[in-house]
Amino acid sequence: MTVDLYGRSYLHELDYTAHEIHHLLDLAAELKAAHRQRQTTPRLTGRRLALVFEKASTRTRCAFEGAAAHQGMTTTYLDPSGSHIGHKESVADTARVLGRMFDAIEYRGFDQGVVEELARLAGVPVYNGLTDTAHPTQSLCDVFTMREHSGRPLDGISFCYLGDASNNTAASLLAMGSLLGMDVRLAAPRELWPDEGLLDRCRLVAEGSGARITVTESVEDSVRGADYLYTDVWVSMGQPVELWQERIRHLLPYQVNVRTLAATGNPDTAFLHCLPALHDRRTELGADLYERYGLDGLEVTDEVFESPASLVFDQAENRMHTIEAVLVATLDDATGGR
Ligand code: CP
Ligand code: NVA
Repeated sequence: MTVDLYGRSYLHELDYTAHEIHHLLDLAAELKAAHRQRQTTPRLTGRRLALVFEKASTRTRCAFEGAAAHQGMTTTYLDPSGSHIGHKESVADTARVLGRMFDAIEYRGFDQGVVEELARLAGVPVYNGLTDTAHPTQSLCDVFTMREHSGRPLDGISFCYLGDASNNTAASLLAMGSLLGMDVRLAAPRELWPDEGLLDRCRLVAEGSGARITVTESVEDSVRGADYLYTDVWVSMGQPVELWQERIRHLLPYQVNVRTLAATGNPDTAFLHCLPALHDRRTELGADLYERYGLDGLEVTDEVFESPASLVFDQAENRMHTIEAVLVATLDDATGGR
């Protein structure tokens, strides 16, 4: 079955079929290999990409810029305060302006409705670079990294996400894992479980894909045998700093530390994190949280973060290769991304 993603936006995992996601993963592997051999043939020369960020970013911005450069595209970055969007100009007007000047738009912001409105009105592909409810370029990279590291089909792989399972990263992993027939486990206190509506959708998807979905408060049950442990920050961008105290109280039992790794009973369990991670005191926030709560690491200890089990920098690099696959697949009219 051929896949043609030309002209498509990438806003949410469940907008795509498993077959289409597998196509992007295969393309990302090809592009990564070509990049390693310095043999990339640019397929998007002269195209223009707008990068609109209403929140901070290191990886997503650099991954889009790097991927675009490999393919011969130019980029324009609009920072969280440097455009009129939302302040003086509506999303609808911004979409129509950017759509006249660019071949594609990446957007990072708050409400998922904004990136969807951009995509409806811009007339060019729009990519979701993170909203409060989804981070689909991250989950694409995550399953790519799992497949690459394990060397096995994704429907034979299990992962356990621990911590704030109500956030964007967890939601995207849940959606992606469900779509691809994976063994998906989420361990979190009940008040931080994923949105019920999303869970219902994912359970329905899982009926077709064969995915297993477990959402539980029990760390011990959920990590047993897992191929991957995954965590993310306990307070996400846009949430108030006052949340830290309550989150630490609720989430400390879900910290990924050497005991959690040992509890898998699987000597090959690897660790993943979308980054940035609070694993030591070497950041302003890390130092401040140490001062206030006496904790060196929050969602993951430095010991695990720096251990041989940790794949976090391979994962970070893979943001670029997987995003490059999204750009090529959706913008290369010569081949329809094939
Ligand atoms: N993982 C991720 O999205 O990182 P940035 O916030 O640095 O883009
Ligand atoms: N959940 C995090 C992810 C950062 C990449 C946040 O939204 O801040």
